Amino acid sequence: MYRANDKRYENMSYRRCGQSGLKLPAISLGLWQNFGSVNIYENSRAMIHTAFDAGITHFDLANNYGPEPGSAESNFGRILAQDLKSYRDELIISSKAGYLMWPGPYGEWGSRKNLIASCDQSLKRLGLDYVDIFYHHRPDPETPLEETMGALAQIIRSGKALYAGISNYPAARAAEAFRLLREMGVRCLIHQPRYNLLTRNYEPDGLFELLEREGVGAIVFSPLAQGILSGKYLNGIPDGSRVAVSSPLQELYLNPTGIAKLQKLNSIAEARGQTMAQMAIAWLLQRPAVTSTLIGASRPEQITEIIRCLEHPIFSAEEQRAIDEITGIC
Ligand SMILES: NC(=O)c1ccc[n+]([C@@H]2O[C@H](COP(=O)([O-])OP(=O)(O)OC[C@H]3O[C@@H](n4cnc5c(N)ncnc54)[C@H](OP(=O)(O)O)[C@@H]3O)[C@@H](O)[C@H]2O)c1
Repeated sequence: MYRANDKRYENMSYRRCGQSGLKLPAISLGLWQNFGSVNIYENSRAMIHTAFDAGITHFDLANNYGPEPGSAESNFGRILAQDLKSYRDELIISSKAGYLMWPGPYGEWGSRKNLIASCDQSLKRLGLDYVDIFYHHRPDPETPLEETMGALAQIIRSGKALYAGISNYPAARAAEAFRLLREMGVRCLIHQPRYNLLTRNYEPDGLFELLEREGVGAIVFSPLAQGILSGKYLNGIPDGSRVAVSSPLQELYLNPTGIAKLQKLNSIAEARGQTMAQMAIAWLLQRPAVTSTLIGASRPEQITEIIRCLEHPIFSAEEQRAIDEITGIC
């Protein structure tokens, strides 16, 4: 029987999410990959134990995570029932709706029909009465934003979620979403954008300044660019790695220019006495708008390695400048 580590709160830092009352761990764990029906259940379970034992209180899901849609939620529901039932009030569990989940016109995007039905389905799979955060997963170019935000507000009022979030919204649309929610008496807690050393497009978009002004937190996903920033691709593509099964990542990042960039970043990490993965997470955590980094993992040891980034959080002005030069933001 699983019993959580008594010292689990000693080394993690907890950061206030925007201007809310909620604190999130500096590192949160996402279950997009490696927690579904195609994965080894005992490995998924061991990763949840490792994370919670190290103070990771936040687990992020979505209706479609698997890759078989729904299967990550079902497996997490099973782990919750088996091991974490008595710890429910120590956990922040999130889910989302917006990407394709079931066939027909109501299985994706941002209609009230989609969000309300999807939230109910997620709760059943998770075996929960409520999730802590419920997100709209991506902007819908066709549905009026008022309808989508109205559905989020209804989910909060019905008690099926405690806080509302949005993901993948550019700054202008996010500002509109925050305003609509406020008018409905609901504050948006959090935004979930893709942000890492190789993907900095939300900086010129002005998203982070908006979040700070509005008092909305940010949890940034794919902080290692799906493992590209882990350092393991500097000398080829290891068997079983995500790139070995996902070729678009290879084309995007592992061309000669990309590899040269990674080598330079790796030299800075080495000089700091960190792995590149640890430096990539530490760099995100010193950005003022970032509340939490949302990592993925395929093995428990990866989580243990990442968490050690908290031992060396500070960057010198010189390191910052060098990183900005390498990543093309000067
Ligand atoms: N809102 C959205 O639209 C959206 C989209 C994507 C993701 N997300 C969320 O963000 C979470 C994380 O995304 P992500 O999986 O792309 O995050 P990531 O942290 O950038 O990549 C995770 C992958 O990197 C590799 N890795 C991690 N630590 C490592 C280490 N110490 N050494 C070597 N390799 C390491 C592992 O892949 P391998 O070992 O398999 O190579 C791992 O599965 C998701 O689970 C989900 O919750 C949200």
